[in-house]
Amino acid sequence: MVSRTRPAGRRLRTLSVVGTAAVVVALTVSLLPNLAHAAEATLGAAAAQSGRYFGTAVAVNRLNDSAYTTILNREFNQVTAENEMKPDALQPNRGQFNYTNGDRLVSHARSRGMKVKGHTLAWHAQQPGWMQSLSGSALRQAMIDHITNVVTHYRGQLDSWDVVNEAYADGGGGGRRDSNLQRTGNDWIEVAFRTADAADPNVKLCYNDYNTDNWNDAKTQGVYNMVRDFKQRGVPIDCVGFQTHFTGGSNYPSNYRTTLSSFAALGVDVQVTELDIRNAPADAYRNVTNDCLAVSRCTGITVWGIRDSDSWRSSESPLLFNGSGQKKPAYDAVLTALNSATPNPTTPGPNPTTPGPNPTTPGPTAPPGSASEIVGAQSNRCIDAPSRNNGTRVQLYDCNRQSNQQWTYTSAKQLQVSGNMCLDAAGSGNGAAVQIYSCHSQTNQQWNVNSNGTISGVQSGRCLDVWSTANGAQVQLYDCHGQTNQQFRLVSR
Ligand code: G3I
Repeated sequence: MVSRTRPAGRRLRTLSVVGTAAVVVALTVSLLPNLAHAAEATLGAAAAQSGRYFGTAVAVNRLNDSAYTTILNREFNQVTAENEMKPDALQPNRGQFNYTNGDRLVSHARSRGMKVKGHTLAWHAQQPGWMQSLSGSALRQAMIDHITNVVTHYRGQLDSWDVVNEAYADGGGGGRRDSNLQRTGNDWIEVAFRTADAADPNVKLCYNDYNTDNWNDAKTQGVYNMVRDFKQRGVPIDCVGFQTHFTGGSNYPSNYRTTLSSFAALGVDVQVTELDIRNAPADAYRNVTNDCLAVSRCTGITVWGIRDSDSWRSSESPLLFNGSGQKKPAYDAVLTALNSATPNPTTPGPNPTTPGPNPTTPGPTAPPGSASEIVGAQSNRCIDAPSRNNGTRVQLYDCNRQSNQQWTYTSAKQLQVSGNMCLDAAGSGNGAAVQIYSCHSQTNQQWNVNSNGTISGVQSGRCLDVWSTANGAQVQLYDCHGQTNQQFRLVSR
């Protein structure tokens, strides 16, 4: 559904990534015994073992400091420009672009095989003076022109862009931050994403914000609802960045993993984009790292500077290296965690702390052990596994009595299809993907077939749900409400 509204380039890339992922899964399984004992000596290499990156913000003027570049080049395989790719740096005067520093960083990184995240295209802060003085349609056009010029300049060179930065307000409202960009109209964020997509359909497009770490915070929910809406309407968004500044009074919340997995379940990558933690406690750094590693779509971690002396909050000593460039205990904790990662996590995170309501009267209505079609009450179409690959999302499709639509409900509450593949929740939040995966004994593969026709996940308490009745409509998890798009019949033919 979403991909229909997206340009062909982005859609094709997505499909090929899925194909590649399937190959990687197959290879990983056969190579697992050899990889199990690898312990890499640097952050980037350790993260790469599970297909992730470990990066840092870079201030370009520090590339002249050899102590700095020695650590950068040794430890990190991703960079984000700390200030050099912000609007005030790239377009100091209207129509006059200065790419010198940005290009220097991109060249340094790419020549060493590091990924680059562009930061940032549209932000209320660090606008050049001429932009700050604009409003209304003139500002909107200036934003569009800036994005088009900058994304075109870097086309093919970056991994991702922070398209929009910090558009939500702090506090309990969960709404947008007031800014000159916001006052051009509520659609400014999606216009920014569509403009970036038109300029480079292949670079990943991210929304980035801070104080979005605690799943229960209104700001987190506000951003979540925006991303969910974008995915539903086909606005091209690929990733959400969690700045994760646990400095200046913010702390690691115990539900951070739930936040990451809930966003990932919307169908976006998630990334820790600006990590720093007051006094750099090893435990908190370890927790953040393990939370990312537990979420298969958490694709990387970026710290906001290398040495404490490089930090925007250096008085809090929040980074992994001290001012002399020596590794701190937090460094060891992160490296050990990265080296302990499994190559391909399947179950992103624990249960959310605020699960949806449980369905009424649970209890299987189909006899365990018999193969059945699972027929949607609203669509009259069958739940269908389009391939046998791990991670294949299930969909609605015309019932055809073939084996990829024959589900066996086992006494262990699994729904098995095509041999030893199981219906599997790729997350537990609203919007989590429902896929097939090799059967195991965890609760994200256990389902209650309820007497009101709903099928709810044992781990999440949420119900199988479809947004449309069409062929190809994807199945997701959603709070159980029992309406017909959540009702299914098990039919043995
Ligand atoms: O380079 C000038 C220098 O010539 C001048 O003398 C000095 C006077 O104050 O300012 C220097 O520029 C500073 C610049 O950092 C480079 O050090 C700016 O004043 C200062 O405002 C700027 O701060 C940056 C801040 O964003 C601006 O909002 C920080 O370095 C940068 O780490 C920080 O990064 C942000 C992310 O982009 C978004 N998330 C939050 C994060 C931390 O605030």
